[in-house]
Amino acid sequence: MTSILTVRNLYASYRSLAVLSDVSIDVPQGGMTALLGANGAGKTTLLRAISQVMVRATGEITFDGRRIDGQPCDAIARAGIAHVPDGRGTFTELTVEENLCLGAISRRDKAAWQQDMVRMYDYFPRLHAYRRKPAGLMSGGEQQMLAIARALMLSPRMLMLDEPSFGLAPMIVRQIFDILRQINTERQLSILLVEQNASLALELATNAYVLESGRVTISGPANVLRGDERVRRAYLGHPEETAHA
Ligand SMILES: Nc1ncnc2c1ncn2[C@@H]1O[C@H](COP(=O)(O)OP(=O)(O)OP(=O)(O)O)[C@@H](O)[C@H]1O
Ligand SMILES: [Mg+2]
Repeated sequence: MTSILTVRNLYASYRSLAVLSDVSIDVPQGGMTALLGANGAGKTTLLRAISQVMVRATGEITFDGRRIDGQPCDAIARAGIAHVPDGRGTFTELTVEENLCLGAISRRDKAAWQQDMVRMYDYFPRLHAYRRKPAGLMSGGEQQMLAIARALMLSPRMLMLDEPSFGLAPMIVRQIFDILRQINTERQLSILLVEQNASLALELATNAYVLESGRVTISGPANVLRGDERVRRAYLGHPEETAHA
């Protein structure tokens, strides 16, 4: 399978704090890649290094056949990478519709993005109910849906999601992941997913990486990682409990 994103020998740091060392990953075209790891492992930093926000990085990053490392973050977005950051980044005082418009701000194809807005309301009907209301009135799950919809309004080729399930009830998480799976298959949209819920992530993903202290320690097809003893112990609970799950 060809890769839409390849990261090679990436090092990233905040001022004097080195966080990522020699990280190499691939996101398959139209696939879903999961990034697992404990708190502080460097998952958020890896997404920031790809979209060139807040962190200094060196290494080779190729997206859709073109080198993108060293480019400003707006160029990365225009190249087709949409980043849903941790904490969502919703403008809570703006309406849902205004938030969606902001997602499309760099697009010139007005007719197409208006159609996309209608599609977002099909994917996430709750957003339609709140379209003229401040986004801050919505629940956490609805705000996460808005963050994803806003990123999709960029009409990206790849979506990067930083812990979309964080703080949400299991039923809402399931809904959000069902939609992500649908978008992934329907639109052939590639996804790079950071997720604490390893069993959910490995259920959906094509391939996965485990980051430990800023390095990739385990990688492979998601179904292989599901059976890997080290992954079971550290991220899927105790082996005896999960062996027959
Ligand atoms: N803006 C920042 N300035 C300085 N250090 C930072 C900054 N953001 C993160 N770090 C440090 O970088 C390291 C990696 O953090 P990062 O947020 O990438 O981890 P993570 O895997 O996303 O963790 P979590 O699961 O808690 O979200 C940590 O030691 C963290 O304290
Ligand atoms: Mg993080």
